[in-house]
Amino acid sequence: MHKEELESLLKSDNKNVASAAFEILHSIELKEREKIKIFKKLKKKPAPTKTKSGYTTPSGVMDAEDMLADAHLGALVDRLKFVPDSITVVDYGCGKGAFLGRMKEIGRELGKIHYIGVDISRGNRYLAGLTAKSCGVADKLKSCDFMNPDEFFRKDVNIDHVFFSHVFHEICLKYLPELLYHLLSKMKAGSRITILEQVTLVEPERDFVTWDADDFDMLFSDFAESSPRPHQTRRGHELISVDLERLDTDVDLESMRKRCLKVYEHKEKKVGEKLRAHGLSEAEDRYLSALYKNINLQLNEYLKSIRIAE
Ligand SMILES: C[S@@+](CC[C@H](N)C(=O)[O-])C[C@H]1O[C@@H](n2cnc3c(N)ncnc32)[C@H](O)[C@@H]1O
Repeated sequence: MHKEELESLLKSDNKNVASAAFEILHSIELKEREKIKIFKKLKKKPAPTKTKSGYTTPSGVMDAEDMLADAHLGALVDRLKFVPDSITVVDYGCGKGAFLGRMKEIGRELGKIHYIGVDISRGNRYLAGLTAKSCGVADKLKSCDFMNPDEFFRKDVNIDHVFFSHVFHEICLKYLPELLYHLLSKMKAGSRITILEQVTLVEPERDFVTWDADDFDMLFSDFAESSPRPHQTRRGHELISVDLERLDTDVDLESMRKRCLKVYEHKEKKVGEKLRAHGLSEAEDRYLSALYKNINLQLNEYLKSIRIAE
């Protein structure tokens, strides 16, 4: 049975069916983890960027335990301890609730936070709900809701802080403009976006696309002011972290579409140039070729979706 079908069974009224689906999904996850371990062992040479080691955060793998060890995220959580008043925090691409796992450190201040976890995966939203309960934050937060992107886009809300933790590389170009348009429209000047992203893809075969400082600058200039990165964690994993403050500017969907397209064309050009450089090792060539293919695929899909809409 397909993973998505299993995820939809998690909400079945029949408890036995839901619990069997949960068990199967859990065993799939364990197998995925095993695959990552094997991949790490096999990966003798780091991928093209000069990172010390790849940061393993493929979809569905990073859990609250990994997140607990992430020093940089600790700094973000610390910031939430000092919020003066009630705020709304959106955990975009919340996954299985790794961020909620860290939020328990906020203690008493949790009562000031309206938490919204958004994810396209129903199964992950369900698991994030379980994490919120098991970490003891669900009933301490001012509110704790999980929704899919469409529900979230329709929601009338003022967002104070958005987190994207290891999500951007997974967001398809065809969804990106709408997502940014809705998010930025719900944010007042002075509200913040924090993005944490891996520099090197662990699983380029999953059609993911990397983001670097240039890309983020292109994407957010006019809408938000950003502070510098990249950032090297104490564990030696190279991450990009972007901390943006929303400017008092208008956003419209059409210009966001053009902007996202431009960023991807820029990505394609950059990776294409790297790929044509001399002296690449076989592993570097393989990695860059996969990345180039992913960017190209997303661009084609996006252009096709625009043509269909016209
Ligand atoms: C690698 S996981 C990261 C989860 C979590 N933020 C963390 O740091 O552990 C990426 C998550 O983003 C979600 N995702 C991917 N594309 C998305 C989109 N367009 N909208 C919402 N969620 C998305 C996936 O379902 C997955 O749960």
